[in-house]
Amino acid sequence: MKIGIFDSGLGGLSVLRELLKTLPQEDYVYYGDNANCPYGGKSAEYVLGRSREITELLLSKGCKIIIVACNTATSAAIASLRNAYPEIPFIGMEPAVKPAALGTQTGVIGVLATAGTLKGSKYLDMKGRFASKVKVIEHVGEGFVELVESGRVGNDGTPKEEIAQVDEILTKALKPLIDAGADNIVLGCTHYPFLLPALERNASRLAPERKVKFIDPAPAIARRLQEVIAETGRESLANEAQKKEPGVELLSSSSVSELEKFFNLYAICPRTSK
Ligand code: DGL
Repeated sequence: MKIGIFDSGLGGLSVLRELLKTLPQEDYVYYGDNANCPYGGKSAEYVLGRSREITELLLSKGCKIIIVACNTATSAAIASLRNAYPEIPFIGMEPAVKPAALGTQTGVIGVLATAGTLKGSKYLDMKGRFASKVKVIEHVGEGFVELVESGRVGNDGTPKEEIAQVDEILTKALKPLIDAGADNIVLGCTHYPFLLPALERNASRLAPERKVKFIDPAPAIARRLQEVIAETGRESLANEAQKKEPGVELLSSSSVSELEKFFNLYAICPRTSK
């Protein structure tokens, strides 16, 4: 089945990476709106307009399911997209507040996301429903998206100066969460999982005694996609079962060759986690 997936830029590749791992038989069309990234500080109307245009394009490519692999676009657009295309299943991102609230030992959880996501009703509803008994500390990951879009994720092995720059940017957002006692931190933007090794390194430095867990929502999206495919009914099951390689088409409002470069760097690289 052909599945459309989009993000403001490279962030949705963290979701595609998981889908390629768990549902490799499917065909994916990925659209990165790199020319208009970041969405985080833009108006909900703007993000809705872009989401509609991208959805039209993905539908014209024959996609039967659309994954809005961007928390900011989910918050601004998914309700309206579902109204506009009632026959198409849309899967959106939800900040993983529930598992964080269930998993915390300290009673404090952190949420890192864009400004658009943190003020959206979707996030506020989730927080009210699932995190009323814990303390929630939120912070915008200022500069995080730009790091990922420029390929500076500060993994071990990168030059010292780059690591120092990345650590400085991450520490600004992470320190208030760690200082407040957070032990479960929700990655509420699909760009952020690419910073996971650097986030873990900084969390260990800031709180050497505490085990801090970062929650990437991508596995939950893969599970949801599996359910939606089952509900939708699959065409040519026999043919698909024999297919070995997933099909991936990459599209971008900026440079497709740049997107290909990052696809190889990010979506194909193995997940690094504790
Ligand atoms: N990756 C996106 C998200 O999940 C958007 C980041 C941005 O464009 O600001 O929110």
